[in-house]
Amino acid sequence: MNIGGTLIAGAAAGALHGTMAVPGDKSMSHRSIMLAALADGVTEIHGFLPGEDNISTAELFVTMGASIEWLNDEKTSLRVRGVGLHGLNEPDCVLDAGNAGTCVRLVSGILAGQDFHSVLVGDASLHRRPMLRVVAPLRDMGATIDGREQGAYLPLAIRGQRLRGTTHAMNVASAQVKSCLLLAGLYADGETRVKEPRPTRDHTERMLPLFGQSVSQHDGYIVLQPTGSLSAPKQAIHIPADPSSAAFFAVAAALVDGSHVDFEAVGINPRRDGWRRILLAMQAKICTTPCADVGQEPVAQLQVAGARLQGVHVDATDVPDAIDEFPVLFVAAALAEGTFVLSGAEELRVKESDRIASMVAALQAAGADIEERPDGVIIRGRARLAGGVTVDAHGDHRIAMAMAVAAQCSDAPITIHHAAAIATSFPGFVAKAQGLGMNLRWQENA
Ligand code: S3P
Repeated sequence: MNIGGTLIAGAAAGALHGTMAVPGDKSMSHRSIMLAALADGVTEIHGFLPGEDNISTAELFVTMGASIEWLNDEKTSLRVRGVGLHGLNEPDCVLDAGNAGTCVRLVSGILAGQDFHSVLVGDASLHRRPMLRVVAPLRDMGATIDGREQGAYLPLAIRGQRLRGTTHAMNVASAQVKSCLLLAGLYADGETRVKEPRPTRDHTERMLPLFGQSVSQHDGYIVLQPTGSLSAPKQAIHIPADPSSAAFFAVAAALVDGSHVDFEAVGINPRRDGWRRILLAMQAKICTTPCADVGQEPVAQLQVAGARLQGVHVDATDVPDAIDEFPVLFVAAALAEGTFVLSGAEELRVKESDRIASMVAALQAAGADIEERPDGVIIRGRARLAGGVTVDAHGDHRIAMAMAVAAQCSDAPITIHHAAAIATSFPGFVAKAQGLGMNLRWQENA
């Protein structure tokens, strides 16, 4: 990943207008590659997100023997020839997940069940992120995993083993932990049962049945009884547009007076749709028109118009459904009327950056009234931001995009350093933003 990249973002010259097609869902793109690589047969995937994170996942599985044929230059359609659940090869080099937490955590579960040795590494940000949340329950399943600080951090060295099923009550609401254990469960003797403290995105549970592996719910547990193989679906997998990417432009449209932006079908899985519900509670004008499901996922067209937003209180119960959208929701709150309070969101501190600290520093510098709390923020909204500052995105894609949105309502431009990570989840973000009338550009030679 290029950790540099400077964005110069100024106030929008006028209202934002247009039709927006955001790229495919990042979470589902990761899962589609993993399951296709482990299936018997060939899986066709459309709507794939060719972001750096997903390309890392694809490259890992190619290193271990799966083959990928790209069907278009944009790398949004592909065919994966799977090797079967037990057909991966021992990699002869370290497996580099780049910046991708979803990749490294889900792949750990798969590697734990192989009959070979592997080493997982990533970039500097990924090496700071907590891994014990997956390593400890995988060890309970019989996995042999070592890593820095007793397995708390990458690099992780995994000596694959025959695993046993587990019953695990998670102490953090994390779809990555849940999915890691379900994928490890494919290799286990007996059932794997996982309980979440709060429901999280369920893309793994929705996608596994397409590959012939059912997942059920019993007594509050998600249960996987392994069938011993995955088979490539007869129909192609279609991945809907990523709601997390749509959220940046939805907030921009909501904040810039007179704006009107139409979004082509976007995922509205209830476990991903918290940002839209929070914006609606903030009095945003969002018209939602459900369309036919894309594959196993609900989608809708969204129309967002400019409106005066109001502050709201958000607590732990609402956090998982909007976990990735808080940076841009903080921007919405900084420009709303009244007070916005977020609590129970300490998980934001262990994302690609500490998203509470990164956003507090950047928004305060830009002139917002935002107060840091251990588990959230208090924001007193203002009509405009002063801007005229340089802020640091800390190599975190969502901080960079959120501050580009903040700049649309700033009196002077905001310069955003370490913004190149936008390419991990949203290649083409700047061009799409410009297409709506947002004022931003990459600094040349940065
Ligand atoms: C993801 C789960 C979430 C989310 C991440 C993607 C996934 O992480 O923040 O961007 O695809 O499972 P956690 O499981 O750490 O909450």
